[in-house]
Amino acid sequence: MRKPIIAGNWKMYKLHDEAVDTSLELKPLVANANHCEIIIAPVFTALKTVADRMEGSNIQVAAQNCSTQIEHSAHTGEICADMIKDIGCSHIIIGHSERRQFYSETDESVNQKTKACLHFGLTAIVCVGETLDERESGNAENIVKKQLTGALAGLTVADMERIIIAYEPVWAIGTGKTATPEQAQEMHGFIRRVLNETHSTEAAENTRILYGGSVKPANVKELMSEADIDGALVGGASLDANSFAQIVNFK
Ligand code: PGA
Repeated sequence: MRKPIIAGNWKMYKLHDEAVDTSLELKPLVANANHCEIIIAPVFTALKTVADRMEGSNIQVAAQNCSTQIEHSAHTGEICADMIKDIGCSHIIIGHSERRQFYSETDESVNQKTKACLHFGLTAIVCVGETLDERESGNAENIVKKQLTGALAGLTVADMERIIIAYEPVWAIGTGKTATPEQAQEMHGFIRRVLNETHSTEAAENTRILYGGSVKPANVKELMSEADIDGALVGGASLDANSFAQIVNFK
């Protein structure tokens, strides 16, 4: 049984106090949600306060990125995964398409960051997904497979227990254009087959695969009813506590 995960990616939104306020507003709204894990990913500057305020609740806190490096070293502007763990976070989103697109992240750096996460006992939410061109040219599966095998290269079957995959078709992110449940299911099933090849049947069966791309209260239930969709990584609709709580309470 894979426990669903609803994760909110707050991207580069909210000043410190706004992030804290939203997290505090969310807390009572989802206090009774035992059917899924709940994760929120605020900006770095708000992480420590939000993690402190969420302590003892059913809301886990994630960072949106980390350094490829595992040694504290001269890397101006970077943040080591253990610094993220140190302030009370449990997860890190790795390889989001916006980072691949605007910050030159490659399958290799995604792999290094994933390993950095695992090195310090954190769980990595590894993002994969094709662009519209790639889908229209019939390459969606090839691209997703390449991203997946690149990100997970060198990981053991045991490592896979701390990996969550987020399938986020780039054309569906922030566009209001959601993949249909059938399109998403098709790719999630494919991802599971790839994990079976690269790791093990057990890893394929146990890994949670989240869908991301214009998930909202109105479409979450339908997406969640698909066999291989184990949760959602929500951007825009996670910024408002009420709308995110509705997504969490999709049942
Ligand atoms: P969206 O973003 O829900 O605003 O489409 C999803 C994401 O980028 O994780």
